[in-house]
Amino acid sequence: MTNEDVMKISQEVLAQTYGRFPVVLIKGQGCRLWDVEGKEYLDFVAGIGVCNLGHCHPKVVQAIREQAGKLLHVSNLYHIEPQVQLAQLLVKHSFADRVFFCNSGTEANEAAIKLARKYSHDHFGPGRYEIISLLKSFHGRTLGALAATGQERFHKGFEPMMPGFKFVPQGDLAATAAAASNSTCAILVEPIQAEGGVNLPQENYLQGLRRICEEKKLLLIFDEVQVGMGRTGKLFAYEHYGVPPDIMTMAKGLAGGVPIGAMLAREEVAKSFTPGTHAATFGGNPLSTAAGVAALRATIEDGILENCQRSSAHFFKKLEGLKRKYPFIKEVRGKGLMIGLELDRQGKDVVMDCLKRGFLINCTNETVLRFIPPLVVTPEEIDRLVQALDEIFSTWS
Ligand SMILES: Cc1ncc(COP(=O)(O)O)c(C=O)c1O
Repeated sequence: MTNEDVMKISQEVLAQTYGRFPVVLIKGQGCRLWDVEGKEYLDFVAGIGVCNLGHCHPKVVQAIREQAGKLLHVSNLYHIEPQVQLAQLLVKHSFADRVFFCNSGTEANEAAIKLARKYSHDHFGPGRYEIISLLKSFHGRTLGALAATGQERFHKGFEPMMPGFKFVPQGDLAATAAAASNSTCAILVEPIQAEGGVNLPQENYLQGLRRICEEKKLLLIFDEVQVGMGRTGKLFAYEHYGVPPDIMTMAKGLAGGVPIGAMLAREEVAKSFTPGTHAATFGGNPLSTAAGVAALRATIEDGILENCQRSSAHFFKKLEGLKRKYPFIKEVRGKGLMIGLELDRQGKDVVMDCLKRGFLINCTNETVLRFIPPLVVTPEEIDRLVQALDEIFSTWS
């Protein structure tokens, strides 16, 4: 089959929810991908922050192979060995005491929203259900997580939105304190906004949110679906700021490419989820959690965070060089290997041009080129992309 053949069928039989690039990827290894016609690409998208260990990491592949031959699925009516092992690792390496597993980021946020409401109901009685979220945030596409997402363009046509969310600008502590009422139970933020354009928290902002939560007895929820699992150079982004949350959501990179989601919480909060209050058939199933154990161990033990930090420093240096050369680059920002390069114009043509040259990159918020390569990316691979960007930008001036 050719790219054309597959794309034709795709257009006929799939729901047309994605604006897809004209390429069919069939094989991956490390930072490299190949399409159905054998063309090679360097990947700076990593499944949008999923393939943090690179494609087909040998330890993840081996864990999947072994588990697939043993047991694929049993119900959560029974105890599941790799599920327990993954939870134990997450608890050991985070602020959390307990873990609930599901299948995606949006589902993890649904669990967080439900737990925040239930905790508040248990401790303060009914009527305290509102969650303060941020403008430009992204929390997922199911109706609860969508309602929590502070970007109207995602709501359009799906109204009415589920009630119970208020939006304030990132960095505005006064607006956040003012938005907290007798009906508020939690504040939900991405420590670093990803889809909203790679927006870092302002100095002392997360500490300020923690203070508001303490004063008003609110829960602090961090959505680390995209920035967790080493993406920013630490296992979790909140570690950069010294502010642990009460609840945290994860997904994407947690199982090295196998679908999974997780909601982590402190003991006192997690206690509000009692038998029968929440569930997911596939949540924490043997296959996904066996992959998760392998992925998390590799992230912690195999120098992945250190490589992320080293490659990040190199990447920033190179992109800053481009910024000095081209005045239409407004800013280079980010943390670890989540890096945004903001242009003073639309970025989609650059993405297309990169694709033709054999590089996958992404553009978010129209003008922000986003680079989220596997955390195993090397300086040489980064140099190849920066060279391509330089060639593309040089035709603009
Ligand atoms: C911060 C954040 N939260 C939630 C989600 C939703 O995750 P999923 O697509 O797995 O439902 C995303 C997806 O991009 C995300 O970036």
